[in-house]
Amino acid sequence: SDQSAFDTDVWTLTRFVIETGRQAKGATGELTQLINAMLTAIKAISSAVRKAGLAHLHGLAGAVNVTGDDVKKLDVLSNDLVINMLQASYSTCCMVSEENKELIITPKDKRGKYVVCFDPLDGSSNIDCLASIGTIFAIYKRVSEGEPTDKDALQQGNNIVCAGYALYGSATLVALSTGAGLNFFMLDPAIGEFLLTERNVKIKPKGKIYSLNEGYAKYFHPSINEYLKHKKYPEDGSSPYGARYVGSMVSDIHRTLAYGGIFMYPANEKSPKGKLRLLYECNPIAFLIEQAGGVATTGTQRILDVQPEALHQRVPFVVGSPDDVNEYLSFVKKFQ
Ligand code: AHM
Ligand code: MG
Repeated sequence: SDQSAFDTDVWTLTRFVIETGRQAKGATGELTQLINAMLTAIKAISSAVRKAGLAHLHGLAGAVNVTGDDVKKLDVLSNDLVINMLQASYSTCCMVSEENKELIITPKDKRGKYVVCFDPLDGSSNIDCLASIGTIFAIYKRVSEGEPTDKDALQQGNNIVCAGYALYGSATLVALSTGAGLNFFMLDPAIGEFLLTERNVKIKPKGKIYSLNEGYAKYFHPSINEYLKHKKYPEDGSSPYGARYVGSMVSDIHRTLAYGGIFMYPANEKSPKGKLRLLYECNPIAFLIEQAGGVATTGTQRILDVQPEALHQRVPFVVGSPDDVNEYLSFVKKFQ
């Protein structure tokens, strides 16, 4: 085999997207353009995230930068980047962003046939302490003609054409699926390209880690507390699970995909539908987890089957290795 350190026939994400695009029947290249625009935004966000500390120090000098503009917060900057790059790709008609209350409608002359729901920078509580954060997105085909409306964005996750996340961790990684399995790509900063590092990723059937904000236990439904007790004090003599919770969903999900286990943001008395948003947090992640052979549920319904009613609606979210999620569901049943 070729032992040279330099691979001269690498699978970049761009190449991968072009190739999958060409294989799709009736493809016009519009989705390829859209995904490439998203990747450009992700690279720019990654770069901004990596030097955010410096920009902040600079801002301290007087809270304005040399040109006199206010220093843009990282999440606002990320949102602007995604919106501008996507609109410039001539492939979207409207978008939903966590940062915008209303549907973002693409200017008429730049419209295409896709709808994108995204969270430009998820894990906001981790920005200032330099823990990992991420970008999440789901792409749909529009369902109406004429002026885009909320209806175009209120589609079941079942209709997703492509979804992905970027993790700005110890390295920048993109997880992407167009419905034919899940692949991981790592950013090589030297060439500014994402390189395919793991093909057709599968989640373990069962893990050894549980992940949630257990600080809210006081407000949880008894079924959840029973389940957690079972993880910590197994009655069958098996070892207790380890606990991990970054508090950045992309990070917690990526670990769950890499090591197996369960991640949850369940409903609680204070947040009866949990915290996470269906359109741009839960649906894309549920799609990717299922592509890897995992399960994603609200506790009573498969996430991708939920019919969205509002752009920013929340849902309880439980995802991960099939055995772990199914075990959790057996606790839900016990309390019904
Ligand atoms: P955000 O969109 O404001 O960043 O909130 C979403 C984040 C997720 O990444 C994470 O899973 C969750 O909030 C953590 O919430 P909590 O601090 O309640 O545990
Ligand atoms: Mg978010």
